Amino acid sequence: MKVPFFRHSIGEEEIRAVIDVLRSPFLTTGDKNEELEHLLSDYLGVRHALTTSSCTSALHLALIALGIGRGDRVVVPALTFMATANVVIHVGARPVFVDVDPATGLMNLNQLEDILRRQSIKAAIPVHIYGQMVDMGALSGMSERYGFHIIEDAAHSLEAVRRGIKPGQLSRFACFSFYATKNITSGEGGALVFNDSSHYERLKRMRLHGMSLSARERHGKFVKYDMPEPGWKYNMTNFQAAMLIPQLKRIEELHRRRSAIVNRYKQAFGPFSFPRIIEEDGTRSAYHLTGILLEDREKIARELTRRGIGVSAHYPTPVPLLRWYRETFGYEKGMFPGAEYIADRIITLPLYPSLTQEEQDYVIRTVQEVAGI
Ligand SMILES: Cc1ncc(COP(=O)(O)O)c(C=O)c1O
Repeated sequence: MKVPFFRHSIGEEEIRAVIDVLRSPFLTTGDKNEELEHLLSDYLGVRHALTTSSCTSALHLALIALGIGRGDRVVVPALTFMATANVVIHVGARPVFVDVDPATGLMNLNQLEDILRRQSIKAAIPVHIYGQMVDMGALSGMSERYGFHIIEDAAHSLEAVRRGIKPGQLSRFACFSFYATKNITSGEGGALVFNDSSHYERLKRMRLHGMSLSARERHGKFVKYDMPEPGWKYNMTNFQAAMLIPQLKRIEELHRRRSAIVNRYKQAFGPFSFPRIIEEDGTRSAYHLTGILLEDREKIARELTRRGIGVSAHYPTPVPLLRWYRETFGYEKGMFPGAEYIADRIITLPLYPSLTQEEQDYVIRTVQEVAGI
């Protein structure tokens, strides 16, 4: 049997929605983006949403909106996808890496507080990794005490809640990804959500070169536009938005499937299963990624691949230990024990709503056999 690491949940409804846009005259950012933005802000209970070309561009725009740049320090967890830290580099600021809890992969808030006592920090980008949220109540308390902005990297956690709080509700910005393997996807894509209305017009402009009028606003009219300041090409197309709308409308149903699959893995793998699920009232994971931690990862992952099971490692190297960060800032092995513990052991497993019971049984049986667990 072959079980791929990922299968998207695009069905006939999404295909029809894309075809409808393709048959219309308007392909670039348009009415479907606006509809998706309203659905997203309603779903998250925040005031504004803007669709973007990716989560990376959303994170970049959030840093720009807050005026973060040269000479500023921005906290980033050591275990994340490189994009979280790279955007800090792109605005000319310096990432300050904080280790993560080896049981959950989430940023260690005690270590963060130690850093805040010693250094002045302009912003923090907590990552709700694997689908569970950093304790935003605790983090926003710290942001008030020490005076820094919070930008949430919620690429993994659209459906997540922690103590009744959703991404975007206790921060300046939360950024989402609709990349090919995310819980809902348009191949590439992202969104930025926020409550402060004073950012809206500027960010809408900055995601499209800084133009004062978008193509949609100029469509069918002869009007001149201006450019108050140069922006980026960070907009999402109308057909990408169209394929996300039906997925967002059935996100709870998709989430129930993901949750059931993770529960079966947990039961099967017991103490080897990872991450530990946070059990607090009003809290749930988006169940984006799940896996196991094993000492002999390389050999076992290769054997699982040989037996037709798609596996991955999120992430195989903590960001500060990637070559450029090591060479530029002098980070070394041993500096981030929590992140290194996970990175050296993690195998992420197939997790998607269309994974059948038979497929999951095959994954479980094979992992148990190969890993001897
Ligand atoms: C935690 C995290 N942050 C940011 C990103 C960047 O997302 P995108 O590919 O939409 O730019 C990803 C993508 O995989 C991610 O996993």
